[in-house]
Amino acid sequence: MTLPKTPSFRLDGRRALVAGGSRGIGLGAAVALAEAGGEVVITARGEKGLTEATEAMRAEGHNVSGAVLDITDLEAQEAFLAAQAPFDVMVNSAGTARHAAALDMTAEDYDAVTNTNTRAAFFLARNVARGMAGTGGSIIMMSSQMGHVGGPDRSVYCATKHAVEGMTKSMAIEWGPQNIRVNTICPTFIRTPLTAPTFADPEKLAWIQSKIKLPRTGEISDIMGAVVFLATDASSLVTGTSILVDGGWTAG
Ligand SMILES: NC(=O)c1ccc[n+]([C@@H]2O[C@H](COP(=O)([O-])OP(=O)(O)OC[C@H]3O[C@@H](n4cnc5c(N)ncnc54)[C@H](OP(=O)(O)O)[C@@H]3O)[C@@H](O)[C@H]2O)c1
Repeated sequence: MTLPKTPSFRLDGRRALVAGGSRGIGLGAAVALAEAGGEVVITARGEKGLTEATEAMRAEGHNVSGAVLDITDLEAQEAFLAAQAPFDVMVNSAGTARHAAALDMTAEDYDAVTNTNTRAAFFLARNVARGMAGTGGSIIMMSSQMGHVGGPDRSVYCATKHAVEGMTKSMAIEWGPQNIRVNTICPTFIRTPLTAPTFADPEKLAWIQSKIKLPRTGEISDIMGAVVFLATDASSLVTGTSILVDGGWTAG
C-alpha cells in the first residue's frame, strides 16, 4: 500500500517578500516564513523599524534583508521589484486605519485609507505577479474579518478590506493558469501597534471580547501558521479564498 504524503510546509530555496514587515502582523509573517527556510525581504517606510526587525531576525539566524518602500508610491514599487530577483511568495501586510463614524468621515481620511489598503495593495500584487509568471507563486493579502462583516466606526476600513477580498478572487481566476495562487488572511483584533489604542479602551476591549467566541483575544503568533500554510506547497490547491483567523467572530 502506498500512503499519501503530506506536502511540504517548508520554503527552502524560495524567496519571500513581506510588505509592511517591520512590525505587527507583517513581522510575524516574516519570522514565520524565515523559520520555514525562506529567504525573506521585508519592506516598510521607516528605516529604523526595518533595521530593528532585520537585526532581531538575523540574531535568530534568519536569512533576511530590509528595504525602504512606501507601497503607495507605485513608481517606487516598480523600481524596487525591478532591482530584485522574482519572489515565490508575497505577503502584503502594509495597511492602515482611520476609524470614525461614517457621518463624520472626511474625504482626506477616505483617500488615505483606500490609497494604502486598496490601491497600493492592488498594484503591489499585480507587480509581484508579473515576476511570478512562468514559475508560479503564492500571494497573501492581509485582509481582515472586516472584509467579511461590518463594524462600528469602520465603514471605510471595511470597504477597503471587502475590496481586497474581491480583487483576490478576480486575481486568482486570472492568474490560476500560471500557478499563481492568491488568498487572504482575515485576522480578528490582534494586539499590534495599529490596534494598541483600541485594546487600551475598556469599552472597545469589552466589545471585542464579547464578539470572539474563544476565551482570549488575538496575538501575532495566531496568524503565523496561516501564513506558512498559504505560502507553502501545503496549500497548493488553495486559491481565491480567505482564511479567517477570527476566534469565531464571523460565526455569528
Ligand atoms: N492588528 C489587527 O488587529 C488587524 C486585524 C485585521 C487586519 N489587520 C490588517 O493587517 C495588516 C497589518 O496590521 P498591523 O496591525 O500589523 O499594523 P502595524 O502594526 O501598524 O504594522 C503595519 C506595517 O506596515 C508598514 N506600512 C504601513 N503603511 C505602509 C506603506 N504605505 N508602505 C509600506 N509599508 C507600510 C508599517 O511600517 P512603516 O510605518 O514604517 O511604513 C508596518 O511595518 C493591515 O493591513 C491591517 O489592516 C490587522
